[in-house]
Amino acid sequence: MILSKPILLAATAAALRTPFQVPIDSTAGSGTDVGDINGKLPLVDSEKLQALIKGDALLARAEKLYAIAQLSEDEYNHPTRVIGSEGHIGTIEYIYSSLAALGNYYKLSNQSFPAVSGNVFESRLVLGHSVPATAQPMGLTPATANKEPVYGPLVLVADDGCDAVDYPSSVAGAIALIQRGTCPFGTKSALAGQAGARAAVVYNNEPGGVSGTLGTPSPDHIATFGVSSEEAAPFIDALKSGESVDAIAYIDAEVVSISTTNVIAQTAGGDQDNCVMLGAHSDSVEAGPGINDDGSGSLTLLEVAKQLTKFGVKNCVRFAWWAGEEEGLLGSDYYVAQLPAKENVKIRLFMDYDMLGSPNYAFQVYDARDKVNPKGSQALRDLYTSWYERRGLNWTYIPFDGRSDYDGFIRNGIPGGGIATGAEGIKTDEEEKAFGGRAGDWYDPCYHQLCDDVGNVNVTAWVINSRLVAHSVATYAVSLEDFPERKLEEVRSAMAETGWKYHGHKLVV
Ligand SMILES: *[C@@H]1O[C@H](CO)[C@@H](O)[C@H](O)[C@H]1NC(C)=O
Ligand SMILES: *[C@@H]1O[C@H](CO)[C@@H](O)[C@H](O)[C@H]1NC(C)=O
Ligand SMILES: *[C@@H]1O[C@H](CO)[C@@H](O)[C@H](O)[C@H]1NC(C)=O
Ligand SMILES: [Zn+2]
Repeated sequence: MILSKPILLAATAAALRTPFQVPIDSTAGSGTDVGDINGKLPLVDSEKLQALIKGDALLARAEKLYAIAQLSEDEYNHPTRVIGSEGHIGTIEYIYSSLAALGNYYKLSNQSFPAVSGNVFESRLVLGHSVPATAQPMGLTPATANKEPVYGPLVLVADDGCDAVDYPSSVAGAIALIQRGTCPFGTKSALAGQAGARAAVVYNNEPGGVSGTLGTPSPDHIATFGVSSEEAAPFIDALKSGESVDAIAYIDAEVVSISTTNVIAQTAGGDQDNCVMLGAHSDSVEAGPGINDDGSGSLTLLEVAKQLTKFGVKNCVRFAWWAGEEEGLLGSDYYVAQLPAKENVKIRLFMDYDMLGSPNYAFQVYDARDKVNPKGSQALRDLYTSWYERRGLNWTYIPFDGRSDYDGFIRNGIPGGGIATGAEGIKTDEEEKAFGGRAGDWYDPCYHQLCDDVGNVNVTAWVINSRLVAHSVATYAVSLEDFPERKLEEVRSAMAETGWKYHGHKLVV
């Protein structure tokens, strides 16, 4: 799960021009004709598939994944599965080899794509005589000049700083102070850069700090921080009353371009023109091993994919393990952008499984609605809630607002939805009554931290949700009657929709 949501980070424009090409590895497994296999197996049954999902198997996979994250220790001094790391490369190999071991039940493919990755090594912001506690470098920020501190007067930018005329000439050589809102952070940083500022500080327009990203790198970007509105307020007042404020900004960071890979597995059996698709992200943030986020979803998919091989399917089932989710949904965006319309319409729905075993969990269901999302999204939502209800379990809706890999799908006309157990949100008193755990704490107190390790997963919740994933796969592998046949016109009209605050876990606007 990405932080509260950023904008398009992205696969580069050149990459987006590459033709749709997912090589199929027909060498995995051997011998038997796959159509045959599917025909000889009993048609998948939800209860039977669910019964094959066991906590021990999931936990053993989590231990394995943690050991893989440790492969990054030489380079990062701690376990991580961030894109470009040995831990992430190992994760992709583990997923691919586990699937290849299942013989020719699945057709496997790798989809590599270019991605940008930002690393901030050190940073400091001083406004007047104070160091704002909420100061945070934006994702994909460049370093300050020569990776040295820069000094200058703090200069207030007019309005939202979305227009070149908002930047007074005194911004040249200064540190620009800009209000959040209206346009992406990347636009503000570029305009400040064009006006000659040495660094930029974006202050929030609502309470709290800003965890944002500049998005697709631009040569005009300059070192950019976010700060809370509360901490910016005294300086804004001082500047407005004509006082001068000195500032120091320092960021040592790099933005690197790397190649990373989505792994796709599709049942060889079942109607190849009508698929149910599901995905989880294979990468973690740099800070830690990401066993809950999203080791839990990735491993659930792997276990369901393994158990599904005991059954036949009527519709094809396509599993995806996305890379670069934490950098702004890069892998899933790239995948959807590469899909020609005639491939797009074969995907009857997409189910997102990101963070399934948060330690202070709630059973969260994305509140997808047919009114605003592609038709069928609501039927998927209702499948989840009725499953929890049949088992006497409580559930809660959460906004379907673009924080994970479903985003590219629903923007491109494909019905979608999913479940989660919570990230950095705070559990309410009511939720404590409904789910246990502790009100007032984060659902995942180790969200995006080093402690997101094997101990950071509630196995009870993880098993319950993995069975629900199995139920969703089994249900739609047999019938897609809840989902209207996809039409090419709908693909195009949905593509016009834009304008969310999030695109992944960081804010983009
Ligand atoms: C896909 O990637 C995996 C993991 O890196 C690799 O082992 C496998 O050979 C690749 N398969 C194809 C068809 O390129
Ligand atoms: C569901 O929530 C209610 C309170 O809202 C609680 O009394 C009940 O025990 C919960 N059920 C389960 C299975 O946790
Ligand atoms: C996981 O959740 C269950 C059910 O709420 C609870 O009984 C158990 O103590 C939790 N496990 C851990 C390790 O916190
Ligand atoms: Zn995630």
